[in-house]
Amino acid sequence: MYTSLFVLLEHGVLTVVINRPDKLNALNNTVFEELNKVLDRVYDHKEIKSVIITGAGSKAFVAGADISEFGGLNKTDAMALAKRGQDTFARIENCPKPIIAAVNGFALGGGCELAMSCHFRIASDNAKFGQPEVNLGLIPGYGGTQRLVQLIGKGKAMELLMSGNMIDAAEAKSLGLVNHITTGTALLDECKKILEVINSKAPLAIAGCIKAANAVYDENKDGYAVEIEEFGNSFDTDDMKEGTTAFLEKRKAVFKGH
Ligand code: COA
Repeated sequence: MYTSLFVLLEHGVLTVVINRPDKLNALNNTVFEELNKVLDRVYDHKEIKSVIITGAGSKAFVAGADISEFGGLNKTDAMALAKRGQDTFARIENCPKPIIAAVNGFALGGGCELAMSCHFRIASDNAKFGQPEVNLGLIPGYGGTQRLVQLIGKGKAMELLMSGNMIDAAEAKSLGLVNHITTGTALLDECKKILEVINSKAPLAIAGCIKAANAVYDENKDGYAVEIEEFGNSFDTDDMKEGTTAFLEKRKAVFKGH
């Protein structure tokens, strides 16, 4: 079904592997096309509760946009390329189901931007993050200048953007760019363990958390108003009745997603 992705659904968790290991999983046109198809499925299919995005092999998560596709592009083409990247990554960021990045090696350029568009990041101990576009005479185009500032603050982000320097997993964790570090072999299991907990909660409440937290960074939205609305919406769900009743009856809630 896919040529540049490997996709596996297990226990409600869809693992999406960017599968171009000989090119360090660089994001080419096919990967974007296929990622959007996967996202259609994630948005539409009830059996998918959450998603892990990772890269094939142990060397790279994603080493960036595919530089070999940059040749011959003019300004208009380049702007369209950036728009497609930003739109795709916005679909990840705004997805009502949790999407986490399992960063297993280089996460550079578009790879760092992809990881940052996920709801949070878990890294292997060999992970390396960076926005090296300035080495190519470019700037990040898939949201990197925005999300890096949001995630690690302006001063640190400015240094990384302007120097093109890479940081290791430990530094990324100290900056808040990744939540946890583990070994490469334990990485997917660690992500699945975290998602098992999240998947046991009420899906509409999870979606409400994502929407309200994302509203912090949306200048067209009043995040507090979004929170009020989502809080209200949760009182209209069967899962809220189940969750509160189960608490009072001292039993474990069974959520159905409506
Ligand atoms: N686009 C296209 N191809 C890429 C790529 C990218 N972003 N990153 C790596 N590759 C390809 C290399 O061209 C090479 O292909 P080849 O074997 O056909 O020559 C293959 O992946 C392996 O990469 P290589 O550079 O040989 O590995 P390395 O271990 O020496 O270096 C990196 C690893 C990540 C430091 C290096 O590949 C790199 O700097 N990549 C580009 C990072 C970047 O600038 N990203 C932002 C793009 S906008």
